Amino acid sequence: MSMPQIILLGAPGSGKGTQAARIVELGYNHVSTGDLLRAEIAKDSKLGQKLKGIISEGKLVDDQTVLDLLKANIDLQKGAYIFDGFPRTIEQAKMLDEQIIQTEKAYAIYLDVSFDELVSRIVNRRTCGKCNEIYNLVNKPPKTEGVCDRCGGELVHRKDDNEKTVQNRMDVFKGQIEPIFSHYEKKGILRRVDASINPDTTFGQIKEMVGR
Ligand code: AP5
Ligand code: MG
Repeated sequence: MSMPQIILLGAPGSGKGTQAARIVELGYNHVSTGDLLRAEIAKDSKLGQKLKGIISEGKLVDDQTVLDLLKANIDLQKGAYIFDGFPRTIEQAKMLDEQIIQTEKAYAIYLDVSFDELVSRIVNRRTCGKCNEIYNLVNKPPKTEGVCDRCGGELVHRKDDNEKTVQNRMDVFKGQIEPIFSHYEKKGILRRVDASINPDTTFGQIKEMVGR
C-alpha cells in the first residue's frame, strides 16, 4: 500500500519541523510553508518584502499566496509528503483537499503540547540558515556555538521568535485551529500525539501510526 500523506498540525513550537526531519528518514518528502516563505524573504523579491512585515508581526499570509508557493514547490510524483504549517485556515484545508491531495489518504497528526511550554522552546530555538536544521539552546545545542552540526551553516534566530510575536502567533493558531480539527475529525483522519515528552517518543508514536 502507498504511504499515507501526513498533515502535521500543531501550535508554533510544538515540534512540526523537528518531527518532519525524522519522518523524512522513513522516505517522505517534506514541505514547510514557513520555510518556503522565509526563503522568499531571503531572496528579497517584491513578494518577499511584503511577506517580511506580515511574518514578523506573527500574522498569516493570505491563503492564495501560500497555496501558489506550495504548489510550485511540490512534486507529488516523488511520493508521499509531510505538509508542515499547511493548512492553517479552514479555507486552506479545503484547498488542500480540492487542489492538491485526497485527504482521505492522509493522516492529520496533531502535536499536542501545553501552550505554557512553547514560548521557552521558541525563544531558545536556533535554525540553520542553510539547511533549516533545528536546534535549541537549552535541550539541543549545536556542538559549536552558532554553527550547524550537519552542514556548517550559520545558525540564526528567526525574526518572529521573540516573545511578543510568539504571543500573536499563538493567538492566531488558537483562533484558526478548531474548524480544521472538525474538518479532519469528520473524515476520520485526525490523530493526536503527545508532543510534550521528548522528540524520540513522539516520533515513535507517529511511526507506529503510519505503519512504517
Ligand atoms: P512556521 O514556520 O510554520 O512557524 P510555526 O507554525 O509558528 O511553527 P514553528 O516553526 O515556530 O514551530 P515548529 O512546530 O516547527 O517547532 P520546531 O520543531 O521548530 O510559520 C511562520 C510564519 O509563516 C507564520 O507565523 C505565518 O506568518 C507564515 N505562514 C506559514 N505557513 C503559513 C500558511 N499556511 N498560511 C499563512 N501563513 C503562513 O521546535 C521548536 C523548538 O522546540 C526547537 O528549538 C526544538 O529544538 C524544540 N523542540 C522540538 N520538539 C521538542 C520536544 N519534544 N521537547 C523539547 N523541545 C523540543
Ligand atoms: Mg517549523
